[in-house]
Amino acid sequence: MTYDLIVIGGGPAGYLGAERAGRAGLKTLLIEKQYIGGVCLNVGCIPSKTLLYSAKILDSAKNGSKYGVTAEGLAIDHPVIVDRKNKVVKALTSGVRAQLKRQGVTVVEGFAQIDGRTDDGYVVKVGDNAYTGKRLLIATGSAPAVPPIKGLEEGLKSGYVLTSNEIFDVGTIPQSLVVIGGGVIGLEMASYFNSAGSKVTIVEMLDHIGGDIDLEIAGILQAEYEAKGIEFKLKAKVVEVTADSVICEEDGQRVEIKADKVLLSVGRRPVVQGFGLETIGVEVINGRINTDEQGRTNIPGVYAAGDVNGRSMLAHTAYREAEVCVNNMVGRRDRMTYDAIPMVIYTNPEVASVGETEESAKRKGLDVEVVNLSMRYSGRYLAENHGGRGICKMVVDKGSKRILGVSMIANYASEIIYGAGIMIERAMTIEDAKRVVFPHPTVSEIVRECLFEF
Ligand code: FAD
Ligand code: NAI
Repeated sequence: MTYDLIVIGGGPAGYLGAERAGRAGLKTLLIEKQYIGGVCLNVGCIPSKTLLYSAKILDSAKNGSKYGVTAEGLAIDHPVIVDRKNKVVKALTSGVRAQLKRQGVTVVEGFAQIDGRTDDGYVVKVGDNAYTGKRLLIATGSAPAVPPIKGLEEGLKSGYVLTSNEIFDVGTIPQSLVVIGGGVIGLEMASYFNSAGSKVTIVEMLDHIGGDIDLEIAGILQAEYEAKGIEFKLKAKVVEVTADSVICEEDGQRVEIKADKVLLSVGRRPVVQGFGLETIGVEVINGRINTDEQGRTNIPGVYAAGDVNGRSMLAHTAYREAEVCVNNMVGRRDRMTYDAIPMVIYTNPEVASVGETEESAKRKGLDVEVVNLSMRYSGRYLAENHGGRGICKMVVDKGSKRILGVSMIANYASEIIYGAGIMIERAMTIEDAKRVVFPHPTVSEIVRECLFEF
């Protein structure tokens, strides 16, 4: 059977790309080996946010007395939370399947193996069945990185060490949890397990948590979590995992941390091997598929979108990249830009950022002005966050007064940040943005307050 487009992988890049292609009239086949919805819907964005919402309810209730609300006997019922998570995942993945059907996309469940090219197109095999695609969209995503740390493979095999693939279905809350890697997954999962009652220790080899987020915000987040009982070991590199502990090197000393379970969250690697990319000569550089701004690989008609290109491993990036690929396939000129992609860490409080941080701007040698405002300038924030330490920082180009970046730590930040993204994407100056009317009272007004500080 010949298709206009074969999509390999049914995660955000794959399913959205297939939906858009179907809608645009391309005869489209989507092949998925494990779960429609990919990592995001099954073991990523959605499961984590479902668990974190339950933790947030508990945290709010525990703090209720500050707001004149008291309750007793508050606790996490982990099996109920996991059950609810499974229902949310099912509802969403069923929705994706229905949408694919509506757009006329054929779905095949199985492992896709690319097997060269004929005059009709690229050959993709699933078991004994062969399909031909005039075009391919590679959307095979990513998998947890497993560094060569002594004892790690054994720990993963025995179930002592978990990755994000397994952590959502852990049956009981461990009494103690060591998280290797203080990046996004580590922080979000530490947040849940801390609220659920685990003694959590985060081991991070850098001198700060949260990767590329604003350093002051990283410090505030760390302080918030230290106050909740999470222990941080920074500048500490994990060198060994034993049957019941993690060993790290801190200031040249070997430090052993005993734990009931370990979460490994030290980054993700694009899935580029084992499915025949080499049979059609797709270029892989540093473990990721090399793409241009239209999503094209070095091979005509072969596109790649999402985590597999390793540019920005986020679901919303995957969506937009897939859209760009399909638009170019059907002759609508489109290109991907990465300057205004928001990132959010769904801790409590949330962290959100778009564009440049103060540090990234300096690293690039940009001449910028930075405004740094306490969230307490927002009436709604003050009403809802007793003693909150949230801040909002805006980075502006000194000469042109164009807005280059916004970072914030405060709840609702996840829902506010896209507004700042629009300002950056549309290359707005401070004066342009001042004309935007914000609803009052909302936490979003902090962005407007920042504008008037320049
Ligand atoms: P994937 O979702 O990885 O999908 C790839 C699919 O391809 C998989 O279903 C896989 O089974 C399939 N596949 C691979 N090889 C083959 C083959 N040979 N044949 C057939 N099928 C194949 N991002 C956010 O933006 N916000 C968040 O809040 C967020 N939270 C996250 C939380 C966690 C714990 C994790 C792990 C990730 C999170 N992410 C989040 C990242 C997000 O999940 C990814 O960026 C997103 O899933 C990437 O989409 P994708 O389509 O590129 O790849
Ligand atoms: P990450 O790259 O965010 O963080 C990994 C951390 O591990 C880094 O801080 C790194 O310095 C540290 N590290 C590496 N090796 C170490 C060692 N041996 N010892 C101690 N620390 C070590 O990766 P993470 O958290 O695994 O997440 C992967 C990706 O998934 C993210 O980059 C993001 O793209 C995506 N994601 C997005 C989320 C969101 O948008 N809210 C949530 C979760 C994941």
